[in-house]
Amino acid sequence: MAISFTVNGQKRQVDGDAAKPLLWVLREDLDMVGTKFGCGAGLCGACTVHVGGDAVRSCQTPLGDVAGKAITTIEGVQTGDPGKRIAAAWVKHDVPQCGYCQAGQIMSATALLATTPKPSDEEIDAAMMGNLCRCSTYVRIRAAIKDAAG
Ligand code: FES
Repeated sequence: MAISFTVNGQKRQVDGDAAKPLLWVLREDLDMVGTKFGCGAGLCGACTVHVGGDAVRSCQTPLGDVAGKAITTIEGVQTGDPGKRIAAAWVKHDVPQCGYCQAGQIMSATALLATTPKPSDEEIDAAMMGNLCRCSTYVRIRAAIKDAAG
């Protein structure tokens, strides 16, 4: 079944199982491997992308649910605002350690600033609590978000 949507502003069509997780559609069908597989169970946030501007877990989002929707991934988020500011702050604060979770972290942080331009520490913690980092870069993540917020 052919399902159409946009990814980073480009029209895409995938002919596949409507139940296939968006994570694997991106990685396998569209060769966009910036979105990472962590747990596959909706627990870690490594697979976070935006669907219609909302941060969602692509491992838990079936292809059929994104028909006609606008998806943004880590490959595209840094070209817009606030993604560009977030990316610059991530570099400035040297946020990543191993880096594996950081695409998901950036996607959640960008969704936060898009709706809450000046988040409090509590709002940052609430928005980011679903994104786990085994290197524990949380302090740098919070500092980078506050810096990007200005
Ligand atoms: Fe989707 Fe962990 S891979 S939440």
